[in-house]
Amino acid sequence: MAKRVLNITIFLYCLIITNAQVFDIINYGAKAGGADISKALLNAWKAACTSSKPSIVLIPKGTFTLKEVYLLGPCKAPQIAITNQGSVVALPQPTSVKADNEWIMIQYVDHLTINGNGVYDGVGAKSWTLNREHCWNTTQCNQFPNNFGLHNLKHLTVRDITSKDAKSFHFIISDVQNATFQNLKVTAPENSPNTDGIHIGKSRQVTIKDSSFKTGDDCVSIGDDTQGVNITRISCGPGHGISIGSLGKYNNEKPVVGVWVTNSNLSNTMNGVRIKTWAYSQPNEASNMHFENIRMDNVGNPINIDQLYCPSGGCNMNMPSRVKLSKISFKGIRGTSSTPVAVNLVCSATFPCQGVEIGNIDLKFKGGDAQFICSNARPAFSGKQNPKINCR
Ligand SMILES: *[C@@H]1O[C@H](CO)[C@@H](O)[C@H](O)[C@H]1NC(C)=O
Ligand SMILES: *[C@@H]1O[C@H](CO)[C@@H](O)[C@H](O)[C@H]1NC(C)=O
Ligand SMILES: *[C@@H]1O[C@H](CO)[C@@H](O)[C@H](O)[C@H]1NC(C)=O
Ligand SMILES: *[C@@H]1O[C@H](CO)[C@@H](O)[C@H](O)[C@H]1NC(C)=O
Repeated sequence: MAKRVLNITIFLYCLIITNAQVFDIINYGAKAGGADISKALLNAWKAACTSSKPSIVLIPKGTFTLKEVYLLGPCKAPQIAITNQGSVVALPQPTSVKADNEWIMIQYVDHLTINGNGVYDGVGAKSWTLNREHCWNTTQCNQFPNNFGLHNLKHLTVRDITSKDAKSFHFIISDVQNATFQNLKVTAPENSPNTDGIHIGKSRQVTIKDSSFKTGDDCVSIGDDTQGVNITRISCGPGHGISIGSLGKYNNEKPVVGVWVTNSNLSNTMNGVRIKTWAYSQPNEASNMHFENIRMDNVGNPINIDQLYCPSGGCNMNMPSRVKLSKISFKGIRGTSSTPVAVNLVCSATFPCQGVEIGNIDLKFKGGDAQFICSNARPAFSGKQNPKINCR
Protein backbone atom coordinates (compact mmCIF):
# COMPACT_ATOMS: atom_id res chain seq x y z
CA MET A 1 0.00 0.00 0.00
CA ALA A 2 2.77 2.41 0.97
CA LYS A 3 4.56 1.66 -2.29
CA ARG A 4 1.41 2.38 -4.25
CA VAL A 5 0.96 5.72 -2.50
CA LEU A 6 4.58 6.55 -3.21
CA ASN A 7 4.17 5.62 -6.89
CA ILE A 8 1.08 7.77 -7.19
CA THR A 9 2.86 10.63 -5.45
CA ILE A 10 5.79 10.38 -7.85
CA PHE A 11 3.42 10.20 -10.78
CA LEU A 12 1.44 13.27 -9.66
CA TYR A 13 4.69 15.10 -9.05
CA CYS A 14 5.75 14.36 -12.62
CA LEU A 15 2.44 15.68 -13.87
CA ILE A 16 2.84 18.88 -11.95
CA ILE A 17 6.38 19.58 -13.05
CA THR A 18 5.62 18.80 -16.68
CA ASN A 19 2.12 20.23 -16.59
CA ALA A 20 1.05 17.30 -18.73
CA GLN A 21 -2.46 16.28 -19.53
CA VAL A 22 -3.30 12.63 -18.84
CA PHE A 23 -5.36 10.45 -21.15
CA ASP A 24 -6.13 7.28 -19.18
CA ILE A 25 -7.23 4.44 -21.46
CA ILE A 26 -9.80 3.45 -18.82
CA ASN A 27 -11.66 6.66 -19.70
CA TYR A 28 -11.69 5.51 -23.32
CA GLY A 29 -13.33 2.18 -22.57
CA ALA A 30 -10.40 -0.09 -21.69
CA LYS A 31 -10.92 -2.71 -19.00
CA ALA A 32 -8.24 -4.62 -17.16
CA GLY A 33 -8.53 -8.38 -17.68
CA GLY A 34 -11.12 -7.77 -20.36
CA ALA A 35 -11.56 -7.36 -24.07
CA ASP A 36 -9.09 -5.98 -26.58
CA ILE A 37 -8.02 -2.40 -25.81
CA SER A 38 -7.02 -1.49 -29.39
CA LYS A 39 -9.83 1.02 -29.78
CA ALA A 40 -9.44 2.56 -26.33
CA LEU A 41 -5.69 2.96 -26.78
CA LEU A 42 -6.11 4.44 -30.23
CA ASN A 43 -8.75 6.91 -29.05
CA ALA A 44 -6.70 7.95 -26.01
CA TRP A 45 -3.75 8.43 -28.38
CA LYS A 46 -5.79 10.57 -30.78
CA ALA A 47 -6.94 12.81 -27.93
CA ALA A 48 -3.40 13.10 -26.54
CA CYS A 49 -1.91 13.71 -29.97
CA THR A 50 -4.28 16.54 -30.82
CA SER A 51 -3.90 18.22 -27.42
CA SER A 52 -1.83 21.37 -27.43
CA LYS A 53 -0.20 20.48 -24.09
CA PRO A 54 2.41 17.84 -23.24
CA SER A 55 0.33 14.68 -23.00
CA ILE A 56 0.46 11.28 -21.40
CA VAL A 57 -1.41 8.25 -22.63
CA LEU A 58 -1.73 6.25 -19.44
CA ILE A 59 -2.07 2.49 -19.27
CA PRO A 60 -2.65 1.99 -15.56
CA LYS A 61 -1.87 -1.04 -13.38
CA GLY A 62 -3.62 -4.20 -14.53
CA THR A 63 -3.40 -6.67 -17.37
CA PHE A 64 -4.75 -5.56 -20.74
CA THR A 65 -5.24 -7.48 -23.97
CA LEU A 66 -4.04 -5.68 -27.09
CA LYS A 67 -4.64 -7.13 -30.55
CA GLU A 68 -2.62 -4.49 -32.43
CA VAL A 69 -2.38 -0.74 -32.65
CA TYR A 70 -1.03 1.81 -35.09
CA LEU A 71 -0.31 5.18 -33.48
CA LEU A 72 0.30 7.82 -36.04
CA GLY A 73 1.51 11.43 -35.88
CA PRO A 74 2.28 14.14 -36.50
CA CYS A 75 0.96 15.33 -33.16
CA LYS A 76 0.08 18.78 -32.02
CA ALA A 77 1.22 17.96 -28.47
CA PRO A 78 4.79 19.23 -28.03
CA GLN A 79 5.66 16.05 -26.11
CA ILE A 80 3.79 12.83 -25.78
CA ALA A 81 4.37 9.85 -23.50
CA ILE A 82 2.92 6.38 -23.47
CA THR A 83 3.18 5.44 -19.83
CA ASN A 84 2.45 1.78 -19.20
CA GLN A 85 2.23 0.88 -15.53
CA GLY A 86 0.57 -2.45 -16.18
CA SER A 87 0.96 -5.39 -18.46
CA VAL A 88 -0.10 -5.25 -22.10
CA VAL A 89 -0.51 -8.69 -23.60
CA ALA A 90 -0.80 -9.71 -27.27
CA LEU A 91 -3.04 -12.44 -28.64
CA PRO A 92 -1.17 -15.73 -28.98
CA GLN A 93 -2.18 -16.54 -32.58
CA PRO A 94 0.68 -16.01 -35.05
CA THR A 95 -1.77 -14.28 -37.42
CA SER A 96 -3.41 -12.05 -34.80
CA VAL A 97 -1.83 -8.94 -36.34
CA LYS A 98 -2.60 -7.91 -39.93
CA ALA A 99 0.10 -8.74 -42.47
CA ASP A 100 2.94 -6.17 -42.58
CA ASN A 101 1.83 -4.49 -39.38
CA GLU A 102 3.69 -4.56 -36.12
CA TRP A 103 1.98 -5.32 -32.85
CA ILE A 104 2.58 -1.73 -31.75
CA MET A 105 3.45 0.54 -34.63
CA ILE A 106 4.29 4.21 -34.10
CA GLN A 107 5.14 6.61 -36.89
CA TYR A 108 5.77 10.33 -37.52
CA VAL A 109 5.96 11.56 -33.93
CA ASP A 110 8.51 13.94 -32.40
CA HIS A 111 9.40 13.97 -28.70
CA LEU A 112 7.82 10.65 -27.90
CA THR A 113 8.56 8.84 -24.62
CA ILE A 114 7.62 5.23 -23.94
CA ASN A 115 7.98 4.49 -20.24
CA GLY A 116 6.17 3.47 -17.06
CA ASN A 117 7.81 0.30 -15.66
CA GLY A 118 5.21 -1.83 -17.42
CA VAL A 119 5.44 -4.97 -19.52
CA TYR A 120 4.69 -5.58 -23.19
CA ASP A 121 4.22 -9.30 -23.75
CA GLY A 122 4.12 -10.47 -27.38
CA VAL A 123 3.13 -14.07 -26.42
CA GLY A 124 5.31 -15.44 -29.20
CA ALA A 125 5.52 -19.16 -28.38
CA LYS A 126 3.15 -20.36 -31.11
CA SER A 127 4.87 -18.23 -33.73
CA TRP A 128 8.33 -19.51 -32.79
CA THR A 129 7.19 -23.11 -33.24
CA LEU A 130 6.29 -22.34 -36.85
CA ASN A 131 9.75 -20.93 -37.56
CA ARG A 132 11.97 -23.24 -35.56
CA GLU A 133 12.31 -25.80 -38.33
CA HIS A 134 13.66 -23.62 -41.15
CA CYS A 135 14.25 -20.13 -40.03
CA TRP A 136 17.72 -20.27 -38.47
CA ASN A 137 19.65 -20.57 -41.68
CA THR A 138 17.26 -20.31 -44.61
CA THR A 139 15.24 -17.46 -45.96
CA GLN A 140 12.01 -19.40 -45.72
CA CYS A 141 10.80 -17.71 -42.58
CA ASN A 142 7.28 -16.75 -41.82
CA GLN A 143 7.08 -13.06 -41.08
CA PHE A 144 5.59 -12.37 -37.70
CA PRO A 145 4.90 -8.98 -36.14
CA ASN A 146 7.55 -7.28 -34.06
CA ASN A 147 6.56 -6.03 -30.62
CA PHE A 148 7.39 -2.42 -31.52
CA GLY A 149 7.84 -0.88 -34.96
CA LEU A 150 9.13 2.67 -34.44
CA HIS A 151 9.49 4.61 -37.67
CA ASN A 152 10.05 8.22 -38.76
CA LEU A 153 10.49 9.55 -35.25
CA LYS A 154 12.66 12.35 -33.85
CA HIS A 155 13.76 12.69 -30.22
CA LEU A 156 12.54 9.33 -29.00
CA THR A 157 13.03 7.99 -25.47
CA VAL A 158 12.20 4.42 -24.55
CA ARG A 159 12.92 3.64 -20.92
CA ASP A 160 12.00 1.57 -17.90
CA ILE A 161 9.91 -1.03 -19.68
CA THR A 162 10.02 -4.77 -20.28
CA SER A 163 9.54 -6.28 -23.71
CA LYS A 164 8.84 -9.96 -23.46
CA ASP A 165 8.37 -12.92 -25.82
CA ALA A 166 8.02 -10.96 -29.05
CA LYS A 167 6.68 -13.00 -31.97
CA SER A 168 9.61 -11.61 -33.96
CA PHE A 169 11.91 -8.66 -33.07
CA HIS A 170 11.29 -6.78 -29.83
CA PHE A 171 12.03 -3.38 -31.36
CA ILE A 172 12.66 -2.42 -34.95
CA ILE A 173 13.49 1.19 -35.64
CA SER A 174 13.99 3.00 -38.93
CA ASP A 175 14.19 6.63 -39.98
CA VAL A 176 14.65 7.59 -36.35
CA GLN A 177 16.79 10.50 -35.30
CA ASN A 178 18.03 11.03 -31.74
CA ALA A 179 16.75 8.06 -29.77
CA THR A 180 17.66 6.79 -26.32
CA PHE A 181 16.81 3.33 -25.07
CA GLN A 182 17.51 3.07 -21.39
CA ASN A 183 16.85 0.73 -18.50
CA LEU A 184 15.06 -1.83 -20.65
CA LYS A 185 14.54 -5.47 -19.90
CA VAL A 186 14.20 -7.53 -23.04
CA THR A 187 13.47 -11.22 -22.62
CA ALA A 188 12.63 -14.21 -24.76
CA PRO A 189 13.89 -17.80 -24.57
CA GLU A 190 17.21 -18.75 -26.12
CA ASN A 191 15.47 -21.00 -28.66
CA SER A 192 12.98 -18.41 -29.91
CA PRO A 193 13.88 -17.71 -33.55
CA ASN A 194 14.28 -14.15 -34.85
CA THR A 195 13.63 -12.42 -31.56
CA ASP A 196 16.28 -9.69 -32.00
CA GLY A 197 16.30 -7.19 -29.14
CA ILE A 198 16.66 -3.91 -31.04
CA HIS A 199 17.24 -3.71 -34.78
CA ILE A 200 18.39 -0.29 -35.95
CA GLY A 201 18.29 0.77 -39.57
CA LYS A 202 18.32 4.08 -41.45
CA SER A 203 18.73 6.03 -38.23
CA ARG A 204 20.94 8.68 -36.65
CA GLN A 205 22.13 9.22 -33.06
CA VAL A 206 20.85 6.18 -31.22
CA THR A 207 21.95 5.41 -27.66
CA ILE A 208 21.22 2.14 -25.91
CA LYS A 209 22.31 2.00 -22.29
CA ASP A 210 21.86 0.30 -18.94
CA SER A 211 19.71 -2.46 -20.35
CA SER A 212 19.58 -6.23 -20.34
CA PHE A 213 18.85 -8.47 -23.30
CA LYS A 214 18.12 -12.17 -23.01
CA THR A 215 16.80 -13.40 -26.29
CA GLY A 216 16.93 -15.93 -29.15
CA ASP A 217 18.69 -13.78 -31.76
CA ASP A 218 20.93 -10.69 -31.84
CA CYS A 219 20.68 -8.54 -28.72
CA VAL A 220 21.25 -5.49 -30.91
CA SER A 221 21.67 -5.50 -34.67
CA ILE A 222 22.58 -2.56 -36.85
CA GLY A 223 21.58 -2.38 -40.49
CA ASP A 224 22.61 -0.10 -43.33
CA ASP A 225 22.30 3.69 -43.49
CA THR A 226 22.92 4.16 -39.79
CA GLN A 227 25.16 6.78 -38.17
CA GLY A 228 26.10 7.36 -34.56
CA VAL A 229 25.12 4.39 -32.40
CA ASN A 230 26.31 4.31 -28.80
CA ILE A 231 25.72 1.09 -26.88
CA THR A 232 26.98 1.14 -23.32
CA ARG A 233 26.50 -0.77 -20.09
CA ILE A 234 24.31 -3.48 -21.51
CA SER A 235 24.22 -7.16 -20.76
CA CYS A 236 23.52 -9.62 -23.53
CA GLY A 237 22.83 -13.32 -23.23
CA PRO A 238 21.53 -15.69 -24.06
CA GLY A 239 21.30 -14.45 -27.64
CA HIS A 240 23.40 -14.17 -30.77
CA GLY A 241 25.47 -11.19 -29.62
CA ILE A 242 25.83 -7.65 -30.94
CA SER A 243 26.02 -7.35 -34.66
CA ILE A 244 26.68 -4.79 -37.37
CA GLY A 245 25.11 -6.15 -40.55
CA SER A 246 24.60 -8.18 -42.39
CA LEU A 247 25.55 -5.63 -45.04
CA GLY A 248 25.76 -5.89 -48.80
CA LYS A 249 22.75 -8.05 -49.50
CA TYR A 250 20.75 -5.39 -51.31
CA ASN A 251 21.55 -2.90 -54.02
CA ASN A 252 21.75 0.79 -53.02
CA GLU A 253 22.56 0.22 -49.38
CA LYS A 254 24.03 3.22 -47.61
CA PRO A 255 27.01 3.26 -45.19
CA VAL A 256 27.18 2.54 -41.50
CA VAL A 257 29.31 5.20 -39.80
CA GLY A 258 30.15 5.46 -36.11
CA VAL A 259 29.26 2.63 -33.75
CA TRP A 260 30.58 2.41 -30.18
CA VAL A 261 29.96 -0.61 -27.99
CA THR A 262 31.51 -0.11 -24.57
CA ASN A 263 31.43 -1.32 -20.96
CA SER A 264 29.17 -4.28 -21.65
CA ASN A 265 28.90 -7.97 -20.83
CA LEU A 266 28.07 -10.86 -23.10
CA SER A 267 27.42 -14.26 -21.64
CA ASN A 268 26.54 -17.58 -23.24
CA THR A 269 25.88 -15.96 -26.59
CA MET A 270 26.34 -17.70 -29.93
CA ASN A 271 28.54 -14.81 -31.13
CA GLY A 272 30.28 -11.88 -29.54
CA VAL A 273 30.72 -8.54 -31.27
CA ARG A 274 30.41 -9.05 -34.97
CA ILE A 275 30.59 -7.24 -38.30
CA LYS A 276 29.13 -9.32 -41.10
CA THR A 277 28.89 -8.66 -44.82
CA TRP A 278 27.63 -11.03 -47.48
CA ALA A 279 29.96 -12.95 -49.74
CA TYR A 280 29.35 -11.87 -53.35
CA SER A 281 27.78 -8.71 -52.00
CA GLN A 282 26.49 -5.43 -53.33
CA PRO A 283 28.82 -2.46 -52.70
CA ASN A 284 28.64 -0.56 -49.41
CA GLU A 285 30.96 0.65 -46.67
CA ALA A 286 31.13 0.73 -42.89
CA SER A 287 33.62 2.68 -40.84
CA ASN A 288 34.44 3.96 -37.38
CA MET A 289 33.28 0.96 -35.36
CA HIS A 290 34.71 0.56 -31.88
CA PHE A 291 34.32 -2.16 -29.28
CA GLU A 292 35.86 -1.44 -25.91
CA ASN A 293 35.85 -2.91 -22.41
CA ILE A 294 33.67 -5.92 -23.02
CA ARG A 295 33.50 -9.03 -20.85
CA MET A 296 32.87 -12.29 -22.65
CA ASP A 297 31.66 -15.28 -20.68
CA ASN A 298 31.42 -18.50 -22.67
CA VAL A 299 30.82 -16.68 -25.94
CA GLY A 300 31.17 -18.12 -29.47
CA ASN A 301 33.69 -16.23 -31.66
CA PRO A 302 33.94 -13.28 -29.28
CA ILE A 303 35.62 -11.04 -31.88
CA ASN A 304 34.33 -11.59 -35.37
CA ILE A 305 34.59 -9.83 -38.70
CA ASP A 306 32.95 -12.08 -41.25
CA GLN A 307 32.98 -10.87 -44.84
CA LEU A 308 32.01 -14.29 -46.16
CA TYR A 309 28.65 -14.32 -44.47
CA CYS A 310 26.30 -16.73 -46.15
CA PRO A 311 24.23 -18.56 -43.57
CA SER A 312 21.99 -20.52 -45.91
CA GLY A 313 24.57 -21.40 -48.55
CA GLY A 314 24.20 -20.74 -52.24
CA CYS A 315 26.58 -17.74 -52.36
CA ASN A 316 29.43 -17.53 -54.83
CA MET A 317 32.24 -17.71 -52.29
CA ASN A 318 34.79 -16.84 -55.00
CA MET A 319 33.27 -13.38 -55.36
CA PRO A 320 34.54 -11.42 -52.37
CA SER A 321 32.39 -8.96 -50.49
CA ARG A 322 32.29 -5.47 -51.94
CA VAL A 323 31.63 -3.85 -48.58
CA LYS A 324 34.63 -1.74 -47.56
CA LEU A 325 35.35 -1.90 -43.83
CA SER A 326 37.62 0.62 -42.14
CA LYS A 327 38.58 2.18 -38.77
CA ILE A 328 37.68 -0.70 -36.52
CA SER A 329 38.97 -1.22 -33.00
CA PHE A 330 38.65 -3.98 -30.43
CA LYS A 331 40.11 -3.01 -27.08
CA GLY A 332 39.86 -4.51 -23.63
CA ILE A 333 37.94 -7.59 -24.71
CA ARG A 334 38.43 -10.35 -22.17
CA GLY A 335 36.94 -13.55 -20.85
CA THR A 336 36.14 -16.95 -22.27
CA SER A 337 35.32 -18.22 -25.72
CA SER A 338 33.06 -21.24 -26.20
CA THR A 339 34.63 -21.89 -29.62
CA PRO A 340 38.32 -22.57 -30.34
CA VAL A 341 38.45 -19.56 -32.66
CA ALA A 342 38.29 -16.60 -30.31
CA VAL A 343 39.25 -14.00 -32.89
CA ASN A 344 38.00 -14.24 -36.45
CA LEU A 345 39.12 -11.52 -38.84
CA VAL A 346 37.95 -12.55 -42.28
CA CYS A 347 38.02 -9.52 -44.51
CA SER A 348 37.32 -9.16 -48.19
CA ALA A 349 40.02 -10.09 -50.72
CA THR A 350 38.83 -7.22 -52.93
CA PHE A 351 38.68 -4.64 -50.14
CA PRO A 352 40.95 -5.69 -47.25
CA CYS A 353 39.91 -4.15 -43.91
CA GLN A 354 41.67 -0.83 -43.35
CA GLY A 355 42.74 0.57 -40.00
CA VAL A 356 41.99 -2.33 -37.67
CA GLU A 357 43.33 -1.89 -34.12
CA ILE A 358 43.48 -4.61 -31.51
CA GLY A 359 44.54 -3.80 -27.97
CA ASN A 360 44.46 -5.67 -24.68
CA ILE A 361 42.75 -8.83 -25.73
CA ASP A 362 42.55 -11.72 -23.28
CA LEU A 363 40.32 -14.55 -24.45
CA LYS A 364 40.63 -18.08 -23.17
CA PHE A 365 39.15 -21.26 -24.58
CA LYS A 366 38.43 -24.02 -22.07
CA GLY A 367 39.23 -26.87 -24.45
CA GLY A 368 42.78 -25.73 -25.26
CA ASP A 369 44.60 -22.80 -26.79
CA ALA A 370 42.36 -20.09 -28.14
CA GLN A 371 42.91 -19.65 -31.86
CA PHE A 372 42.53 -16.90 -34.40
CA ILE A 373 41.80 -16.68 -38.08
CA CYS A 374 43.05 -13.76 -40.08
CA SER A 375 42.71 -12.93 -43.73
CA ASN A 376 42.96 -9.64 -45.62
CA ALA A 377 43.40 -7.67 -42.42
CA ARG A 378 46.59 -6.09 -41.15
CA PRO A 379 45.74 -5.01 -37.62
CA ALA A 380 47.84 -2.74 -35.44
CA PHE A 381 48.40 -4.29 -32.02
CA SER A 382 48.92 -2.89 -28.57
CA GLY A 383 48.89 -4.19 -25.02
CA LYS A 384 48.16 -7.75 -24.02
CA GLN A 385 47.46 -10.19 -26.77
CA ASN A 386 45.94 -13.58 -25.98
CA PRO A 387 45.57 -15.35 -28.34
CA LYS A 388 48.74 -14.07 -29.93
CA ILE A 389 47.62 -12.99 -33.38
CA ASN A 390 49.84 -13.07 -36.42
CA CYS A 391 48.19 -11.80 -39.56
CA ARG A 392 50.93 -12.11 -42.13
C1 LIG B 1 17.35 14.34 -28.19
O1 LIG B 1 16.10 14.02 -27.63
C2 LIG B 1 16.01 14.31 -26.24
C3 LIG B 1 14.70 13.77 -25.74
O2 LIG B 1 13.62 14.31 -26.41
C4 LIG B 1 16.17 15.80 -26.04
O3 LIG B 1 16.13 16.10 -24.64
C5 LIG B 1 17.49 16.25 -26.62
O4 LIG B 1 17.61 17.64 -26.54
C6 LIG B 1 17.61 15.82 -28.07
N1 LIG B 1 18.96 16.09 -28.55
C7 LIG B 1 19.17 16.72 -29.70
C8 LIG B 1 20.61 16.91 -30.07
O5 LIG B 1 18.29 17.14 -30.44
C1 LIG C 1 28.01 7.01 -25.12
O1 LIG C 1 27.08 7.24 -24.07
C2 LIG C 1 27.69 7.30 -22.78
C3 LIG C 1 26.57 7.36 -21.76
O2 LIG C 1 25.57 8.25 -22.11
C4 LIG C 1 28.62 8.52 -22.75
O3 LIG C 1 29.23 8.60 -21.49
C5 LIG C 1 29.66 8.36 -23.84
O4 LIG C 1 30.45 9.52 -23.90
C6 LIG C 1 29.03 8.14 -25.20
N1 LIG C 1 30.07 7.80 -26.16
C7 LIG C 1 30.10 8.32 -27.38
C8 LIG C 1 31.24 7.87 -28.23
O5 LIG C 1 29.27 9.08 -27.81
C1 LIG D 1 29.37 -6.76 -16.08
O1 LIG D 1 29.87 -7.74 -15.15
C2 LIG D 1 30.60 -7.19 -14.08
C3 LIG D 1 31.19 -8.35 -13.28
O2 LIG D 1 30.23 -9.28 -12.97
C4 LIG D 1 29.66 -6.31 -13.25
O3 LIG D 1 30.40 -5.71 -12.20
C5 LIG D 1 29.09 -5.22 -14.15
O4 LIG D 1 28.13 -4.46 -13.44
C6 LIG D 1 28.40 -5.85 -15.34
N1 LIG D 1 27.95 -4.81 -16.25
C7 LIG D 1 26.77 -4.82 -16.86
C8 LIG D 1 26.48 -3.67 -17.76
O5 LIG D 1 25.95 -5.71 -16.72
C1 LIG E 1 20.48 -25.47 -41.44
O1 LIG E 1 21.12 -25.82 -40.25
C2 LIG E 1 20.90 -27.14 -39.87
C3 LIG E 1 21.48 -27.34 -38.47
O2 LIG E 1 22.69 -26.64 -38.31
C4 LIG E 1 21.55 -28.06 -40.91
O3 LIG E 1 21.35 -29.40 -40.57
C5 LIG E 1 20.91 -27.77 -42.27
O4 LIG E 1 21.57 -28.52 -43.27
C6 LIG E 1 21.03 -26.30 -42.60
N1 LIG E 1 20.30 -26.01 -43.83
C7 LIG E 1 20.81 -25.30 -44.83
C8 LIG E 1 19.92 -25.07 -45.99
O5 LIG E 1 21.94 -24.85 -44.79
